[in-house]
Amino acid sequence: MQSIMANHSMQTVTNDDYPATDGRIPVVPVKGESAARARAAAEVIGSKVFEGAELASPYLVVGETDAWLQMAGNQVRIAFDSATMLHRRRGGQNELLGRAVGVKASRQPSVWDATGGLGRDAFVLADLGCRITLCERVPALAWLLQDAVSAAKVSGHDQVRAAAERMTVRHQDSRNLPVPACDVIYLDPMFPERKKSAAIKKEAAMLQRLSHPQDDAEALWEWAWQQPVARIVVKRPLRAPVLGRQRPSHALTGKAVRFDVFVRPRDTTETHGTGE
Ligand SMILES: C[S@@+](CC[C@H](N)C(=O)[O-])C[C@H]1O[C@@H](n2cnc3c(N)ncnc32)[C@H](O)[C@@H]1O
Repeated sequence: MQSIMANHSMQTVTNDDYPATDGRIPVVPVKGESAARARAAAEVIGSKVFEGAELASPYLVVGETDAWLQMAGNQVRIAFDSATMLHRRRGGQNELLGRAVGVKASRQPSVWDATGGLGRDAFVLADLGCRITLCERVPALAWLLQDAVSAAKVSGHDQVRAAAERMTVRHQDSRNLPVPACDVIYLDPMFPERKKSAAIKKEAAMLQRLSHPQDDAEALWEWAWQQPVARIVVKRPLRAPVLGRQRPSHALTGKAVRFDVFVRPRDTTETHGTGE
């Protein structure tokens, strides 16, 4: 059993107390900063604060203005106005994601992102003009997402502020929430590790560790299929099997990922059939 040592009290806390799988991970304040925000975060996610701790499993570091996930020397932040995200805004995959969701010059669908994660795809869609609700069931991730959206609302970049105004975060299992009137459900379920850059591997490993072992992509698809939405978009690794029991209406294929698009009869913006 891996143990977590909180230096201050020399109290040993085991990973059984904080099963990473339910996301109620320990919270550690940034050294030399007020611990008030860390305490507030711990309360929201149903966890505890460990000051001066050296922790072995994933934990959430919360400072007065910054916050990140930490695991084995790796840090993962959600910052929508970071250089990486600003660069990503211009990436080719964004265009593909926008097309999959059905964004057009005259139409920005409303989207229910049922697998919020680090909010990257949601931000891209919000940046393209879509109103988007991000649903994330891991408490620490939902807290980080909310924190990142709040920070983006006061960003120095006009476009980041505008995108953040279109984003709403919900901490819930998507399947427990009634989907309000919206055009698209977007699913990006976990998929076993594949060939990726070191940076993406680091994030994927962190998400994998935080996520529920019973994250069931098929069940999520079944739930989505029952919802009164015009379109379901599923992000998959390039060669992964199609999720669900229906043939997608079409798929948009990029270098590393594929978007399977299920157009429902109520979607009047799209002609049916395969290929695009
Ligand atoms: C691969 S990540 C999504 C990454 C995201 N598209 C992004 O751009 O950062 C999948 C996320 O979905 C979440 N998730 C899985 N099943 C869920 C459910 N039923 N309800 C809410 N969140 C769920 C997991 O906790 C994980 O954070």
